[in-house]
Amino acid sequence: MSDLVIKNLHVAIEGKEILKGLNLTIEQGKVHAIMGPNGTGKSTLAYTLMGHPNYEVTEGEVWFKGQNILELEPDERAHLGLFLAFQYPVAIPGVTVANFLRMAINARRKAQNPEDRGIPIPEFRRLLKEKMKTLQMDPSFAGRYLNDGFSGGEKKRAEILQMATLEPEIAILDETDSGLDIDALRIVSEGVNALRGPNLGVLVITHYQRILNYINPDYVHVMMDGRIVESGGPELALHLEEHGYNWLREKNGAPATA
Ligand SMILES: Nc1ncnc2c1ncn2[C@@H]1O[C@H](COP(=O)(O)OP(=O)(O)OP(=O)(O)O)[C@@H](O)[C@H]1O
Ligand SMILES: [Mg+2]
Repeated sequence: MSDLVIKNLHVAIEGKEILKGLNLTIEQGKVHAIMGPNGTGKSTLAYTLMGHPNYEVTEGEVWFKGQNILELEPDERAHLGLFLAFQYPVAIPGVTVANFLRMAINARRKAQNPEDRGIPIPEFRRLLKEKMKTLQMDPSFAGRYLNDGFSGGEKKRAEILQMATLEPEIAILDETDSGLDIDALRIVSEGVNALRGPNLGVLVITHYQRILNYINPDYVHVMMDGRIVESGGPELALHLEEHGYNWLREKNGAPATA
């Protein structure tokens, strides 16, 4: 089993502690959701897991496949099977979606086997076509420059397409639902659901219960002030939608906000 095990994670940005002892295990085959107020460190967690250099780990470990991944470079983490969909994806003008995906697949293959000559083009075309069909994406999308002039919803679909073609074992989706219209939300969620299975563990970071109606999570966690303060099943997300976060602030001894 390739679980992702986060132990007592402390992370600082520019000397300010943001994550303050976070513990979480994402099992392969399970879907975990993290909710929580703005600025509590959800994206910080996602970036730290992928190895963004601005995020300084001051304490703690993250285990995946027998390694403390905090000691690995971002590309090594990706080659191990970690995938992160960003809250704000960057544009890569001059590189088409198809080329980007082929390079990403080839880089991973090469990391696993230095002798690998890359995915044969016909096989890649077939794979891309099949995945785009699942996500109900127009085939012309593959020929566009990655994220260049993409609408918010198109960016999110492009991210899920990356996830579908790379077939990671742990995927972290940071607000993949933000800015999606209702149809796009459903399609993206169906895309995630289509990839669900015993070989994929997912962490969905979201503000809204709505996406969780489509991607029915096994566990829901609430993050506040750099820690997980509450965990439960899907009913926890419904409770938050109705009651907000103040009851949790009070429970944890923090002042309630308006
Ligand atoms: N590069 C940075 N420099 C300085 N402060 C940062 C930086 N990145 C994040 N922070 C601060 O870290 C805290 C946590 O930010 P983070 O983006 O992880 O929150 P979040 O839970 O994802 O919020 P949201 O729900 O709004 O996406 C915030 O106070 C933010 O201002
Ligand atoms: Mg965020």
